[in-house]
Formats: sequence, C-alpha cells, structure tokens
Amino acid sequence: MKIAIIGARGQLGQELVKVFGPGCAALDIEDVDIREPVGLRRALERCGPSVLINTAAYHNVPECEKDPGRAFAVNAIGVKNLRDICLALDLALVHISTDYVFDGQKSVPYTEEDVPNPLNAYGVSKLAGEFFARQVPIHYVVRLAGLFGVAGSAAKGGTNFVKLMLEAARTKDRVAVSSNIFSSPTYAPDAAVRIREIIEAGSPPGVYHVTNDGACSWHDFAAEIFRRTGAAIKLDERIETPELESGLRRPLYTVLRSLKTRPMRSWQEALGEYLSEEDAAFKKFE
Ligand SMILES: NC(=O)c1ccc[n+]([C@@H]2O[C@H](COP(=O)([O-])OP(=O)(O)OC[C@H]3O[C@@H](n4cnc5c(N)ncnc54)[C@H](OP(=O)(O)O)[C@@H]3O)[C@@H](O)[C@H]2O)c1
Repeated sequence: MKIAIIGARGQLGQELVKVFGPGCAALDIEDVDIREPVGLRRALERCGPSVLINTAAYHNVPECEKDPGRAFAVNAIGVKNLRDICLALDLALVHISTDYVFDGQKSVPYTEEDVPNPLNAYGVSKLAGEFFARQVPIHYVVRLAGLFGVAGSAAKGGTNFVKLMLEAARTKDRVAVSSNIFSSPTYAPDAAVRIREIIEAGSPPGVYHVTNDGACSWHDFAAEIFRRTGAAIKLDERIETPELESGLRRPLYTVLRSLKTRPMRSWQEALGEYLSEEDAAFKKFE
C-alpha cells in the first residue's frame, strides 16, 4: 500500500512521514497546492499512491474569519479537488478535520454520532471539506483537537499551545489562560500511529475521533505543563465568553471521544513524552 501525504512539512504531517517511513510520498505546498486540481492530479499520478492523506488546511481561526474565501478555497474546494482525483484514480482518502465542527453546547464528550454545528468560518469550511471527503468510497475523516507536536503548527507560525506556555515561562512572570474552554489535547505522534492503525486495519469508512484520552481546560493544560517543567510562572484564570473576539465565535466545549476505536494513552502521559522531546525547554527549568 503506497501512501501519499499532503501537508508533509506540517505538525501532523511530519509525524505521519515518520510513521509511514521512507516509502511514502511526502508532499507539501511547494510540490502541490490542493487548490490547483491540474497540478495536483499530475503530482499524484507521478507518485501513484493507493491511499492519500490530507493534512493541508488553512486553520488560523481568526484569519479564516477575516478571509472566509481563502478558508473555503483550501478547506472545502481543496478537498473537493482531492475527492475528484480519488474518484478518478481509485484512491482511498484520509482527510484530517477538527473538533471545531461542533458548537460546544454539550457538556459530555462529542462522539462520531453527534451532529456538527460549527460556529465560525473555519469550522464551516472544515465541515464542508468533510462532506466532500465522505463522497470517496473508502474515506476516513479523522477529527483531531488541540494538536501538539515538536514541529509546531505551520499555520500558527510553527507554534502550538505547549510551546506558547514554555515561551511564557521563559519570558514572563505570570500568564492568564482560559479556564472555561475544554478540549482533548492530541499528541501528533500518537495521532499519526492511530491513523496508520485505522488504515491498515481496513476499518469501515467513516468519521473517526482521534485524541489522547481525557479532557482538560486550557488552564488545566497549562498547569500540567508548568508542573512538569517546574516553571515558576504564576498562572491566572481567564473566563471567556463564546464571543471571544469581535465577530468570532468559538465553541467552549469540544472534548472528543471515539465510539469506534479503543482509547489512546492519556494526554498527561503524552505531554510527558512531548516535553522530554522539547529538551531545550526542559533543560531551562532543571
Ligand atoms: N493544530 C491544531 O491544533 C489542530 C486541531 C484540530 C484539527 N487540526 C487539523 O489538523 C490538520 C493538521 O494540522 P497541523 O497543525 O499539522 O497543520 P500545519 O502544521 O499548519 O501543516 C499544514 C501543512 O499544509 C500545508 N498547506 C497549507 N495549505 C496548503 C495547500 N493549499 N496545498 C498544499 N499544502 C498546503 C502547509 O504549508 P504552509 O505552511 O507553507 O502553508 C503546512 O505545511 C489540519 O487539517 C487542521 O485543520 C489541527
């Protein structure tokens, strides 16, 4: 089974490339732009995969709100282009999606059976992408949340929440973090392994929730980062309203759970492994 990964330089993409090994085709924006169907098809015909994994997205949430046209061009029409090519070349499609397809009105975890109701342009564009992906006969729509991995998120300037907190610990005396936004942190290497398992098991096509086990507020997450690194920074609570920034609504509760796969290890255990990878940060607080 030959795998092609689009978005291979990104936070999740780099981990997928490690998990699938040197035999996979690692493609990024300089090789293919999912908005350009002709070049995209040519590139995929050249590398001849049987499974295509798409991590590419425009996922800076405030930027998507300001520029919904670009959000839809990448997150929805880009996936339509992938759908067309998968149908024409008979490929399976693994498409990465998000917890932001939900509205956060629940207070117990969202499963694959819950009905999405996105609140912002990013979430709407990603949900549209999911619908296109689901038109490929063998498809896996994999929803992640709060992704963290050593590469950091390219769309967020090479950073992620853990890196931001480590940076705050290095440079500030105190930091205020939301205590009423709850999610399921997802360690990129664990997500990559689970995605390979879903593909290799020949799992039934459909939507899959892939996160580390457990849930936390961003404040709890920050507290655990500072506890594990021994950082002396003062951590304050911040209470958010759903309307966080002008015109942008964010869901306050997007904890995910899978009804289809066994739980992954806890987010705390995964964070411990991640922090030991971020050894520069570790040394700082030893
Ligand atoms: N990060 C999170 O917290 C989070 C949470 C839930 C779900 N997700 C989803 O998880 C996926 C991966 O996230 P990530 O943090 O690994 O993303 P990332 O680090 O931003 O990586 C995405 C990669 O795709 C490339 N790309 C962007 N637009 C492209 C296009 N039009 N054609 C081809 N390649 C393009 C980017 O290149 P450039 O850098 O040059 O643009 C980048 O290398 C996304 O689908 C996202 O929606 C992320």
